[in-house]
Amino acid sequence: MSAGEGTPFGVYVHWPFCLSKCPYCDFNSHVRQAGIDEPRYVNAFTAEIAATAQRVPGRTVSTIFFGGGTPSLMRPETVGAILDAIGRHWTVAPDVEITLEANPTSVEASRFHGFRAAGVNRVSLGVQSLDDGVLKQLGRLHTAREALDAVAVARDIFARTSFDLIYGRPGQSVAGWRAELLQALAKAGEHLSLYQLTIEPDTPFAALHAGGKLVLPDDDLGRDLYDLTLDQCAAAGLPAYEVSNHARPGAECRHNLVYWRYGEYAGIGPGAHGRLLVDGTRRATATEKRPEAWLMRVESLSHGVTVDDALSRDEQADEFLLMGLRLAEGIDPQRYAELAGRPLDLERIAALTGHGFVETTTDGRLRVTRSGFPVLDAVVADLAA
Ligand SMILES: C[S@@+](CC[C@H](N)C(=O)[O-])C[C@H]1O[C@@H](n2cnc3c(N)ncnc32)[C@H](O)[C@@H]1O
Ligand code: SF4
Repeated sequence: MSAGEGTPFGVYVHWPFCLSKCPYCDFNSHVRQAGIDEPRYVNAFTAEIAATAQRVPGRTVSTIFFGGGTPSLMRPETVGAILDAIGRHWTVAPDVEITLEANPTSVEASRFHGFRAAGVNRVSLGVQSLDDGVLKQLGRLHTAREALDAVAVARDIFARTSFDLIYGRPGQSVAGWRAELLQALAKAGEHLSLYQLTIEPDTPFAALHAGGKLVLPDDDLGRDLYDLTLDQCAAAGLPAYEVSNHARPGAECRHNLVYWRYGEYAGIGPGAHGRLLVDGTRRATATEKRPEAWLMRVESLSHGVTVDDALSRDEQADEFLLMGLRLAEGIDPQRYAELAGRPLDLERIAALTGHGFVETTTDGRLRVTRSGFPVLDAVVADLAA
């Protein structure tokens, strides 16, 4: 077994800044006209990594994910300094996966060599659409041409790449999405994330939606778009391994698998969440969301943690279901029983199986079917009840 195998441990690093705020997005991302004091942030990230490693020492880091916000706006030296800090406080597996989320503009693509030199070995680009009119509507700062150029540059520099598209957009037809998706699949490497547009509360899109000015596809069309997505990606050799994620077998995002398989991970930076095993207890952690408040908190306390809750058995079992049933591989009912201290309810499983929403594999795993995925939340709620 190489050092990279064994129990996975992920480190999520949140960079909370963007050049502008997209009207659909409710991620913890902020626009700062005044510029960002990156060396000051490096010191704070380093302090929080040290404090976290004190709580969960001796881990071998198998995956690192720079998410945002827009991490591709960081200087490569900032990324390198954060990776150095992770390496000083934990062991880093020789086959560590280090992903960085990037916006597909030419400015950011020009930094890709620097990110690779800093240690990044996987890039995930937020392309969102291959239609310039739609990109404008989504408030994006790049064109489709620029995005595809950034994908090509990324594929030249990094062995592993992915890009994101948003579908289920206002006015989108099945034929239109088929053409866009086929174009995307022709340009994709090993991985694609395809998200149905969700209306997040308190965003400009939520106001437009409430005012009837932004109309989403109805359930039937949404379902047709989803079916098409699954079929086209599978036909292209990138089957869905999670509700919205598609990869060549073996090219799944290992970091996100840590979440979905309910593994252990540290959350570093403003508004980052973690699940840490401290003295045998699984704890849910979260840090201060507002970047400047997080900075001041770390500078005075050495960490920005504002939530640090021990999870009860029921809470752990519910989280395990919620995450694991997103995966095509489903869950091991035995692990549920160990977490909950009781097995899953066989009658509920039988009823959900009868409705065609779940199935049990030959090796005893429980997974959601294609008909079950559109009603996943209800399936999870039923099993967890
Ligand atoms: C942290 S965000 C984006 C990373 C990067 N800043 C970007 O915009 O390219 C990760 C992904 O979530 C998706 N996303 C964000 N808000 C969404 C929404 N309301 N509905 C569907 N997908 C969304 C987008 O595809 C986005 O690329
Ligand atoms: S979608 Fe990406 S670029 Fe747009 S506001 Fe959200 S995090 Fe920032």
